[in-house]
Amino acid sequence: MRKPVIAGNWKMFKTIGESVEFVKDLRARFAKVDHCEVVVAPPFTALRPVAEALRGSNIAVAAQDCHWDKEGAHTGDISCDMLYDAGCTHVIIGHSERRHDHGETDEQVNKKLKAALAEELMPIVCVGETLEEREAGETEKVLERQFHGGFQSLTAQEISRIVIAYEPVWAIGTGRTATPEMAAESHRPLRAMVGAQFGSQTAEQLRILYGGSVKPDNIAGLMAQEELDGALVGGASLKADSFAAIVNYPLA
Ligand code: PGA
Repeated sequence: MRKPVIAGNWKMFKTIGESVEFVKDLRARFAKVDHCEVVVAPPFTALRPVAEALRGSNIAVAAQDCHWDKEGAHTGDISCDMLYDAGCTHVIIGHSERRHDHGETDEQVNKKLKAALAEELMPIVCVGETLEEREAGETEKVLERQFHGGFQSLTAQEISRIVIAYEPVWAIGTGRTATPEMAAESHRPLRAMVGAQFGSQTAEQLRILYGGSVKPDNIAGLMAQEELDGALVGGASLKADSFAAIVNYPLA
């Protein structure tokens, strides 16, 4: 059995004060949740105060990006060492907004992935095709390229400490969710690639989340797909009511 993960990616939203107030509310609401792992990914500035407000709770803290070096002359970047120090246990890597806004490559994703694993952070690695690529029938080819580029020279043991998030770019922030079947159709080849390279047991245990306009009214349908092991939620993770409705999808 793969334990689902529901992660909230706050992107560039919430001040420190707003973040702390918000997670105090979530902490109380989720005190009894154990059907899934809950993760929140605040902006860098709020990581430490959020981690402190969540200490001893069942909500984990993720960063939204990292640098691959431990330290160095990289203005504006944050190392995995620093994230660990701030109280993070997870880190989102290769989000399409970073690939698009900052030109992040699969090679960089691979380096970040290795750095996160070395620091004992659990990477949530994002992959997914653009609308153009989907319409050209290239979804699987894109996933293959991102998988082989991003996951090269990892061991099966390392893969077992990673979560993949399949996020079709055309579904992010657009209100246009992939249907549960479409999501599962992309999860299957991803799991097969992991199986071919790392063995079937590793593939069976790997958690693959879906992301892209996940909302309270579509989460139950998505989670009904055996292939979907949770969700990476953007917009709907910013309000306690909608995030709680998503986390509590079995009650829907
Ligand atoms: P969205 O974002 O839920 O707002 O579409 C998802 C994501 O970017 O992780």
